Amino acid sequence: MIKYLFMLVISSVVCEDAIRPNFLIILTDDQDSTLGGMNPMKNVQRFIGDKGVTFKNAYVTSPICCPSRASFLTGLYVHNHLTVNNSLSGGCYSRIWKNIESRTFATTLSDAGYKTFYAGKYLNEYGVKAAGGPEQIPPGWSEWHGLVGNSVYYNYTISNNGVPTHSTDLYLTDIIRDLSISYIENQTGSEPFLMVLAPPAPHQPFTPAPRHKGVFANVTAHRAPNFNIAVKDRHWLLSMPPSPLPDNMLSELDRVYRSRWEALLSVDELVSDVIEALDTNSLLEHTYVIYTSDNGYHMGQYSQMYDKRQPYESDIKVPLIIKGPGIEENTTSDLPVINIDLAPTIISLAGLQPSRIMDGRPIELIGNKTKTERTMLVEYYGEAKDGTVDPDCPWSYDKDNLAQCYPEYACKCQDARNNTFGCLRHIAKRINMKYCLFADNQSFTEMYDLFTDPYELTNIAQQVLPSVRHWYKLTLARMLACRGSDHCDHPLETPRIVF
Ligand SMILES: *[C@@H]1O[C@H](CO)[C@@H](O)[C@H](O)[C@H]1NC(C)=O
Ligand SMILES: *[C@@H]1O[C@H](CO)[C@@H](O)[C@H](O)[C@H]1NC(C)=O
Ligand SMILES: *[C@@H]1O[C@H](CO)[C@@H](O)[C@H](O)[C@H]1NC(C)=O
Ligand SMILES: *[C@@H]1O[C@H](CO)[C@@H](O)[C@H](O)[C@H]1NC(C)=O
Ligand SMILES: *[C@@H]1O[C@H](CO)[C@@H](O)[C@H](O)[C@H]1NC(C)=O
Ligand SMILES: *[C@@H]1O[C@H](CO)[C@@H](O)[C@H](O)[C@H]1NC(C)=O
Ligand SMILES: *[C@@H]1O[C@H](CO)[C@@H](O)[C@H](O)[C@H]1NC(C)=O
Ligand SMILES: *[C@@H]1O[C@H](CO)[C@@H](O)[C@H](O)[C@H]1NC(C)=O
Repeated sequence: MIKYLFMLVISSVVCEDAIRPNFLIILTDDQDSTLGGMNPMKNVQRFIGDKGVTFKNAYVTSPICCPSRASFLTGLYVHNHLTVNNSLSGGCYSRIWKNIESRTFATTLSDAGYKTFYAGKYLNEYGVKAAGGPEQIPPGWSEWHGLVGNSVYYNYTISNNGVPTHSTDLYLTDIIRDLSISYIENQTGSEPFLMVLAPPAPHQPFTPAPRHKGVFANVTAHRAPNFNIAVKDRHWLLSMPPSPLPDNMLSELDRVYRSRWEALLSVDELVSDVIEALDTNSLLEHTYVIYTSDNGYHMGQYSQMYDKRQPYESDIKVPLIIKGPGIEENTTSDLPVINIDLAPTIISLAGLQPSRIMDGRPIELIGNKTKTERTMLVEYYGEAKDGTVDPDCPWSYDKDNLAQCYPEYACKCQDARNNTFGCLRHIAKRINMKYCLFADNQSFTEMYDLFTDPYELTNIAQQVLPSVRHWYKLTLARMLACRGSDHCDHPLETPRIVF
């Protein structure tokens, strides 16, 4: 009898193994979805979009790399993983993070017998000396090729399974592609695998591969109705002069825009080459492919130069496309989703349970959709950085509270301590609202009705009924303290929106 039971257990494990899916996740750096950031991705469209579901309402917990990536890995909101900015002092690959790092989707899958592979940018401070150096291999990864530090295209160090390897002249996106293909060719299909590919594009300095330079020479920055408009009724940082930007800044925006597209072409090639390798090795059929970005980007919106760190759709909305077994081909979805949903989604598709509580929840990929209403939280903690406030800028006296102010960009700062905000992105059948409260000394509030005002041109915070504003304020406070998907999903009952 005991022997019989034992055999049953073994056979059920073997059987599970046979159907456990693989995962291929491509995580780009700063790729927008609202300004045409996906336009150059013809292979992504062909091999993932046409074969799967494209999410039209995909958001991130924070419009900046390290906090957003920490959310992606853990399924936790920023106030729960405590990586608040890109510095070690702000939790990025800090000691606090290392306690949380053992509860990512990678550790859950790895503990259940998955082989795991990571190549490219991880958390911005990974591998730097002060954060423990490149000999560390984050838990959960059996094949590790993490980039030391922040995204670059040349002259970088990769930790190859704990062995730092420097390269000056090999284009990083191509190296990630080559490692990925080699890894796929090594798979026998006997164990399921998880791969995360995190190329640097289209992050600053926006360097295309030589073969792609000039391909988009005639492309100019997307000029939507919110491009370079004079700002009124917005938080302090956005109100800084000049507004609108002088004409000579616009050609710089055009340069950045086309360089980003060109840098993305190597990612588009990577996607096609890696998917082809999966197909050639008969692994594609059982593989979920997820394509997304850590945050969006703005280029000229509301008279800003280029960056992220703002609460507008350009910065917080991201591409998200998923294909795989059982997912209907060539479809779009309006479901409100946020990057903390990816960890629980992957774990659930693998037939597993998260080892600890997560704030996100599995995305409904198959069958009828019920979770069409949601209030999602975006958190951002404004930075100040001495050394990035040029002494030639008139406000350099306040350099302890500002960041990235340069004369070549008309001294318009990109960040300030009080550019700290919590936002709610509330989507339901007849609701498409954004509410943001700034931690500055005016408690500045911005609200946009995305149904009637998709470009966020009119701040309606002072036009809505005080009771509506109050509901959002209260909900935001609750969301900022929420823990676990049940709690984070049901902050408060929905108000009736009356204007
Ligand atoms: C490469 O990076 C090193 C520091 O890691 C720096 O000293 C060197 O100047 C860089 N070389 C180039 C060509 O950028
Ligand atoms: C694939 O296997 C070869 C031979 O064992 C090994 O040299 C190579 O490093 C492996 N590739 C990856 C990415 O693991
Ligand atoms: C850009 O436009 C000019 C003039 O219309 C044309 O001559 C040139 O071939 C175009 N370049 C590219 C790369 O399309
Ligand atoms: C995908 O759907 C769109 C519209 O629903 C259609 O125009 C397009 O041809 C479809 N693409 C494929 C590859 O089936
Ligand atoms: C899905 O929705 C349709 C139409 O509302 C309904 O007929 C069907 O039973 C639903 N299927 C499931 C599995 O709930
Ligand atoms: C990052 O966050 C930490 C902790 O709040 C703070 O001390 C530090 O100044 C922040 N970094 C920047 C560049 O603002
Ligand atoms: C925001 O911070 C800047 C820089 O310290 C300061 O000049 C400004 O008065 C602050 N504004 C608000 C609304 O707190
Ligand atoms: C807002 O804060 C700034 C410094 O950050 C200070 O200069 C200003 O006086 C404050 N304004 C009010 C109304 O407290």
